[in-house]
Amino acid sequence: MTDYAGLVSAAGAMQRRQMYADPAVYEQELERIFGRCWLFLVHESQIPQPGDFFRTFMGEDDVLVVRQKDRSIKAFLNTCTHRGNRLCRADRGNAKAFACNYHGWAFGADGALVNVPLEKDAYFSEIDKSRFGLVEVEQVASYKGLVFGCFDRGAPSLADYLGDMKWYLDVWLDALPGGSVLLGEAQKVEIPTNWKLPVENVCGDGYHLGWAHAGAMKAVQSMDFSGFTVGNASVDLEGGLSIAGLNGHSLLATLDGVSGYSFYPDNGDIMRWLEANRPTVIERLGRVRGEKFWGSQLNFTIFPNLQFLPGLNWFRVYHPKGPGRIEQWTWAMAEQAMPEAIKQRILDNQLLTFGPAGLFDNDDGDNLAACTEQSRGWRTRQMDVYTNMAQGHSGRRPGLPGDIAVGVVSEHNQRYFYRRWQEHMAAADWRAVPQYNLNSLHAAEGLAHAG
Ligand code: FES
Ligand SMILES: [Fe+2]
Repeated sequence: MTDYAGLVSAAGAMQRRQMYADPAVYEQELERIFGRCWLFLVHESQIPQPGDFFRTFMGEDDVLVVRQKDRSIKAFLNTCTHRGNRLCRADRGNAKAFACNYHGWAFGADGALVNVPLEKDAYFSEIDKSRFGLVEVEQVASYKGLVFGCFDRGAPSLADYLGDMKWYLDVWLDALPGGSVLLGEAQKVEIPTNWKLPVENVCGDGYHLGWAHAGAMKAVQSMDFSGFTVGNASVDLEGGLSIAGLNGHSLLATLDGVSGYSFYPDNGDIMRWLEANRPTVIERLGRVRGEKFWGSQLNFTIFPNLQFLPGLNWFRVYHPKGPGRIEQWTWAMAEQAMPEAIKQRILDNQLLTFGPAGLFDNDDGDNLAACTEQSRGWRTRQMDVYTNMAQGHSGRRPGLPGDIAVGVVSEHNQRYFYRRWQEHMAAADWRAVPQYNLNSLHAAEGLAHAG
């Protein structure tokens, strides 16, 4: 019996490496994290018309997300209820019905079983088709374009699950009329790493940027990015924040309003667009978010496996495929209001930096695969890893939700990520999972835009 509480020490800022390698831990994650949390399914703009569908995963479960006639969205397990075949093989498309390859059962876009071959001759018209509809994902909801699903009826609403993180999410999702959009198709790569490692790498690990990505930073001539220097020779912490303590969600944020685009060559056109639109954003979101956050490099993490970075403009989901393997899906992302020329520049730059052969992504993939491999041995599994940087140096910032540490080089957010992981793994159900939105703004600025 695994002591899940013992695999993470929040006070000791350490994690037992067993959590990256042990199949029993992974099985518990499928049940208590991926079977319990709200998971990203699709962006609403990807399935605009009735009958539009998109195939994705919730944990290891294959899921079909379908726009209904009344424009609502349903999600089904992508498995035929007759003998279990994979029902839909296409990644996305538009369909009136889904017919199974094996014996020909056909299901409507609403999941109902509508046709059974030889129903009269072989079933003697005795089959009750209403019993064999597709199995629906228990809860589906969206927040400003992002559609999430949840297998657990006992889960809090999506709005409560996101909590005060919505205040920060709106910096991308609600800055300008039209909101957000994902560009192009998902770029899919397999990486031999445990799913938690890329999440923590992005949620809190600003430390690796000047070191692991030194070559890439030189190549794109971003020698000084918001206080970082190539080779981690020095860092200026004043320009950013590590924000956590929001139900497992977190944000790394630079605060200069422009550095999101510092990795773009010849970014003059983007800078002009930012400044032309900033007054509108300030009007919609207020000065703090409009001036300090919008346009800055931001790393968003929605627990457990969704991350996106306005600025570098990638949007990513990590689908677990066993304790030591993931399928990583990445899109480029933009604001709908951006001109087409800037959207194209974003797509090009995302492929250059964090595409399947991107400069930065290869640095990360190699390190994350090696951290996983080095946790698999009999002896190394019993070792610990540490997230003790800047421990004890966090607190309240007036006007901002969350528990906040200065700078983006800090292991503050990783500690909260693992704390949340441990809370889920040790809890029998949602009633035992604590909800916390530290330093909530509900009473003050309110979540006026959090709808
Ligand atoms: S398994 Fe799908 S029709 Fe038989
Ligand atoms: Fe990285």
